[in-house]
Amino acid sequence: MNIDELKKRIDTKIICKKLLYSKELTSTNKILYQKAVQEKLPDGTTLIADVQTEGRGRLDRKWVSPEGNLYISVLLRPDVDPKNTPIFTFLASCALKDTFDLYQVDSVIKWPNDILIKKKKIAGVLTELKFAGDSIDFLIVGIGVNLNMTLDYISDSMPGISNKVTSLGIELEKKINKEEFTASLVNNIESFYQRFLSKGKSEILSEWTSRWNSLGKQVEIKDGEKVYKGVAERVDENGFLYIKTESGKLEKVITGDFVF
Ligand code: BTN
Repeated sequence: MNIDELKKRIDTKIICKKLLYSKELTSTNKILYQKAVQEKLPDGTTLIADVQTEGRGRLDRKWVSPEGNLYISVLLRPDVDPKNTPIFTFLASCALKDTFDLYQVDSVIKWPNDILIKKKKIAGVLTELKFAGDSIDFLIVGIGVNLNMTLDYISDSMPGISNKVTSLGIELEKKINKEEFTASLVNNIESFYQRFLSKGKSEILSEWTSRWNSLGKQVEIKDGEKVYKGVAERVDENGFLYIKTESGKLEKVITGDFVF
């Protein structure tokens, strides 16, 4: 990443005001969390890396992190109830969706934290918390975006799921300028974060809901052995998904994976 090039394109007051960069590290979420425990980093401190050797996904999954893609973590210190923190995963998803829109690709937000193009995963969000007693000291919103990963790389490195993964470069058949994409994403995160600060969490939830195309549609979610089937009714501020089953019962889903 050319950091000077990136900085030229960023227009923010909070996000990236302190910008940390590393060519290679274990995981931007892990390192930013450690740094924030050691020193008092300001709201919006951002860490970007070119390569992650231990990139992490949700549910302890591995996040394949070669050079060419984007790995970014943002530290936030919002005044929010710990149970409402899924709002920040939604905030990141809105920023991602609006960034993909600029590239004129049809991205889809998949609850709880994925962005898909043509039903293939292109980006994911992993939000991690640090508590101070019963409240939040800080949270780390980590975002991984497949920008320039090739089809060959995907089939070699992700056996079994390679037909469920894509990159922006594959979809647009061109090399993606990382600085341009990252700056647009950062500017969008700032704009949603400012809206959260001035208007609160319900603003983010409604922005997210308006971008979520499963609303009112038939969905199937797998959480371990349990499968939920029904119409996606709504998502609440705690990140829970409500599904109306065929029998008319409203089921609350806490986590899980969409089944296609
Ligand atoms: C998921 O879809 O399961 C979430 C993936 C999140 C990956 C990003 S890459 C930057 C940050 N650092 C990590 O180790 N994980 C997140």
